[in-house]
Amino acid sequence: MRSPQSRPLRELLQTDDFTRRHIGPSEAEQAEMLAALNVTTLDQLTESTLPESIRFGGELNVGGPVTEAQALADLKAAAQKNRVFRSYIGMGYHGTLTPNVVLRNMLENPGWYTAYTPYQAEISQGRLEMLLNFQQTVMDLTGMPVSNASLLDEATAAAEAMTLAKRQAKSKGNVFYVADDVHPQTLDVVRTRAEYFGYEVVTGAANGELPEGTFAALVQSPGTHGDLHDLSPVAERVHAGQGALIVATDLLACALVTPPGEQGADIVIGSAQRFGVPMGFGGPHAAFLACRSEYQRSMPGRVIGVSKDGRGKTALRMAMQTREQHIRREKATSNICTAQALLANMAAAYAVYHGPEGIRTIAERVHRLTGILAKGLADGGYPLNETFFDTLSFKADVAFIQKRAEARGINFRYEGAGYLPDRIGISLDETTTLQDVADILQVITGQQVDVLALDADAVGGIPAELGRTSEYLTHPVFNTHHSEHAMLRYLKALENKDYSLVHGMIPLGSCTMKLNATAEMIPVTWPEFGGLHPFAPADQTEGYAQMLGELEAWLADITGYDAVSLQPNSGAQGEYAGLLAIRKYHESRNEAHRSVCLIPASAHGTNPASAAMLGMQVVVVKTDESGNIDLNDLRAKAEAHSANLGALMITYPSTHGVYEEHVTEVCEVIHAHGGQVYLDGANMNAMVGLAKPGLIGSDVSHLNLHKTFAIPHGGGGPGMGPIGVKAHLAPFLPNHEVRPVSESRTGAVSAAPYGSASILPISYLYIRLLGPAGLKKATQVALLNANYIARQLGGAYPVLYTGRHERVAHECILDIRPLKQASGITEEDIAKRLMDYGFHAPTMSFPVPGTLMIEPTESEPKAELDRFVEAMLEIRREIQEVQDGLLKAEDSPLRHAPHTQDDLMAEEWNRAYSRETAAFPTRAQRTWKYWPAVNRVDNVYGDRNFVCACPPVEEYAEA
Ligand SMILES: Cc1ncc(COP(=O)(O)O)c(C=O)c1O
Repeated sequence: MRSPQSRPLRELLQTDDFTRRHIGPSEAEQAEMLAALNVTTLDQLTESTLPESIRFGGELNVGGPVTEAQALADLKAAAQKNRVFRSYIGMGYHGTLTPNVVLRNMLENPGWYTAYTPYQAEISQGRLEMLLNFQQTVMDLTGMPVSNASLLDEATAAAEAMTLAKRQAKSKGNVFYVADDVHPQTLDVVRTRAEYFGYEVVTGAANGELPEGTFAALVQSPGTHGDLHDLSPVAERVHAGQGALIVATDLLACALVTPPGEQGADIVIGSAQRFGVPMGFGGPHAAFLACRSEYQRSMPGRVIGVSKDGRGKTALRMAMQTREQHIRREKATSNICTAQALLANMAAAYAVYHGPEGIRTIAERVHRLTGILAKGLADGGYPLNETFFDTLSFKADVAFIQKRAEARGINFRYEGAGYLPDRIGISLDETTTLQDVADILQVITGQQVDVLALDADAVGGIPAELGRTSEYLTHPVFNTHHSEHAMLRYLKALENKDYSLVHGMIPLGSCTMKLNATAEMIPVTWPEFGGLHPFAPADQTEGYAQMLGELEAWLADITGYDAVSLQPNSGAQGEYAGLLAIRKYHESRNEAHRSVCLIPASAHGTNPASAAMLGMQVVVVKTDESGNIDLNDLRAKAEAHSANLGALMITYPSTHGVYEEHVTEVCEVIHAHGGQVYLDGANMNAMVGLAKPGLIGSDVSHLNLHKTFAIPHGGGGPGMGPIGVKAHLAPFLPNHEVRPVSESRTGAVSAAPYGSASILPISYLYIRLLGPAGLKKATQVALLNANYIARQLGGAYPVLYTGRHERVAHECILDIRPLKQASGITEEDIAKRLMDYGFHAPTMSFPVPGTLMIEPTESEPKAELDRFVEAMLEIRREIQEVQDGLLKAEDSPLRHAPHTQDDLMAEEWNRAYSRETAAFPTRAQRTWKYWPAVNRVDNVYGDRNFVCACPPVEEYAEA
C-alpha cells in the first residue's frame, strides 16, 4: 500500500530537475525578491515589464525537459550514429592528439572555459599569458613580427587578410588574385566577402602572372593538393605592383619549410587546429593572422600586448582596444568581436608542452610517413606531386577506391566542387601510424606492402632550397614545461590568476554569463562529435544531422522564424550572414539599390561594421532621452531614404536594457518603406519563451549561442551566431561549395558548413534539459534578478533607463557620471575596486560612456546577488567619503584598486587607508579572497610601446 503522503510519480521522476539547478534563486528566494518588487508571481513581473504588443502567450514547441542522465544517454545514442573513420581528407582539417593534460585541465576545465574576454586585464593575466604564447607560436612558425590572438577560421582569416591588404597596400588596384590551389572553402568565403567590397576576384596558378591592378595575391603553401611553393617570385611580382602578398599556411609544415615570413609575405593566415584541437566536424578552432609591423594598427581581431602595472611590474592586456570595431563602426572593414580564445589557448598549450623539439619531431614524422606513402604509391604506378609536406594527390579510379576505403573505415579526399576530378588526395597527420600507411597502400594498390622496407628508399618532399633553417619557439616558455607535472602546474598557475565563473558572478551587461552546466559540456569531447572531418560523407554523419536538425527546428520555434542557418560562428558573423540574405533578397527583386541601413546610435559596434562590410550606407537613428529609438527621427530617416532603404538593425531588448514599447511600430515603418528588419538577438535571454522576434515583425536575427544558449565564453570565444529568417529570406541563407547545405546560391560565410558544430551539443542540451517551461522560467528569473539588483542599487546609483512601470529587462545601466562629477571617482575606479571585493566588474561604458551595465542572469543565486549588492553599497560609501572631503580621490582605495599581495607585502605603507581596507574591505574576503595578479594596468604605456611577443623571463622576475 502506498502511503497517502506519497508525492505524485511525475514529481518523483524529477524530469524538470535541471531547471532548479540552472536557475540560481530557490522558489522561496524568488518569492522574497518578487515581494521586493511589489509583485507576487513571476507572471506578474513579466506582465508589468514586457509590452503587451510583443508578448507570446503560447508554449514553446521544443524538446524536454528530461533529466541530465536521460539527455546524455539520448544524445550519446544519436552521436553513435556518426561513424568516425580514419580521416585523410586534409583541406585544412587534420587528426591531432590533444595532450591529455591540456584536454582535462583546459578544454574540460571551467576555470578556463567560463572566463570572459579579458577586458579586465588585472584579473585575466593567466589567459592573457597563454594568448601571448599563441601569438609567439604563430610569429615564430610563420616568421612574421606580429600576430593577433586568433580569428574565427582559416577562410574568414583569408577574407580579413584581403581587406587588411586593401587598407594597407599602396596599390590602388581592385583585383584580388587567388591561387587556384587554395582550399575551396577559403575561396568560397573570400568570394562572398569580396562581392560587396567591390573587389574583383581572379584565380590563377600560384606562380602565374598577376593581372593589372592586383592589390593583393593570396597564395597557399602547402597548397590544397599538397604542393609546396617557392613564394619569392610571386612576392616580387605583387610587390612590384605595390600590392601585398597573403600566404595561407600550415603551422606544422612551417616547422620544416622556410616560413612565409622569410619568403616575402606581408600577411600570413591559417588554422591552428592541428595543434591539439579536435576537428569537431568543422570547429571551433583558432585561425591566426600574422603580418608586417607596418600593418599592426589595422590588424583585425584582438591583439595581446605587454604593458606595465601601477607598480611597474610587467602586465599583459588587450592592446589597442580602441581600434576594435566598436570605434571604427561604419568605417570598419572587419566586424570580428568574439574570436577563438579557448582554442588559441589550447594550440599555445600544445606548443608549450611539445616545445620546438617535439613540434619538429611530429612534423618530421608526418613528413617521413608521407614520404613512405609516396614511395609506395609511386611503386604502384601513381604519379604524384613532387613537393609535399603531408599531402599527396594523384589520379585514380575514384569510385573503386572509395568503396574499398570506406569498407576499411578510411576517408580520402575525393574530387568535389570542381576540384580534383578523378583524383584522390591523402593528408597524413600526427595520429598516423606505420600501420595506417600500410592500410592506405593496401586499399589503393590492393597489395600488402612492407612499409618499413619502403622507408630506406623514401625521399622527402621538401626541396632543399625550401628547408627551414631558422629557429623557432626559442623563448623559455616553450622549453620548460615538457614533463606532465610541469605542464599541469603551469596550466594551473595561469588558471589561478584568472577570474572566471568558478569564482563568482561575472555581471557583464550584454554578455549573459549564465551557467555553463557540466552536463551540457560533456559531449563536446566525445570522440563521436570531436573526431569527424567537416567534409566527411553524409552517411557517416547522421548523428550530427539528427542533432543539428532538431536544434534548427527548436531555434526556429523559439525565435518565431521559418528557417535557421547554423553556419555563422560568432554573433558578428551572424549579422553579416543576415544582412547578406537581405542584400540578396533585394537583388532578387531587382532592388539591389536598397543599400541604406538605419542603425540606432546605441547599437553594438558590430552592427554598423557588418553593414559597412556589405557595402551598405549606415544612417544613424537617434535615441530619445529614455534610451528608446526616437520614432520621429526614425520616420523621417525612413522617409528620406525610402527609395533606397535596405534594412534597419535594432537590438531588442535594446542595448539600454529596456523593452521598447514601440518595436512593432518600428518594424511597420521600415516595412512600409520597403526595408527589412534585422533584430540583433544578442539579448535573446530576455525573450526566450516570452516573446519571439519573428512574431514582433522582424525578418532576421542572429542568436549568440554563447550567451543565451549556454555555450561558455571561453575567455573570448568560441561562439556561435546562427541566424533565423522568415521564409522569404530562407533562399538566401549561406550555402557551402564543398558540402552544400541547401539550394541557396549565396556563398559561404564560414569555412565549415555548420560553423563550429562540435559546441552545438551544448545549446542542444540546454534546451532539452530545460524544456519549454524551464526556458520560459529562466527568462523570467533573468528579469527578476536584474530588476532585483536595479531595485537594491537604484538608491545609491541612478538606474539610467527603465521601461514600463520603472522596470528594466535582463540588465540595468547604473549611471556613474553624477558621482564622477561630484567626487572624481570614475566608473573604472569602481570596476577595479570590485576586484578587491572578489568580483568581476560589470560592462564599462557600453553603450553609454560613464556607466556600468549589470546583467546578473538567471543562474546567480540570491546570496551572490546580495554579496554583489553589499560590495556596490560599500563602494558607494567609499565614494561618499571622497565626496565629503575625507579623502582625496587620488588617495582613496578606489583609485589605487585593485590591491595585490605585493601592495600588502610592501614594507612601507603610507596610504590614507589601512591594509585591511585595501584587501579585505568586508568580512566576506576573510573566508574567501581572490587576489588580482597585478595592479592597475597602464593602457596608454602599452599602446605607445606596442609589444605583442613574450617578454624576456627576467622582466617578470625583476618586477
Ligand atoms: C548586442 C550585440 N550584438 C552583437 C554582438 C557580437 O557578437 P560576437 O561577439 O559573438 O561577434 C554582441 C557581442 O557582444 C552584442 O552584445
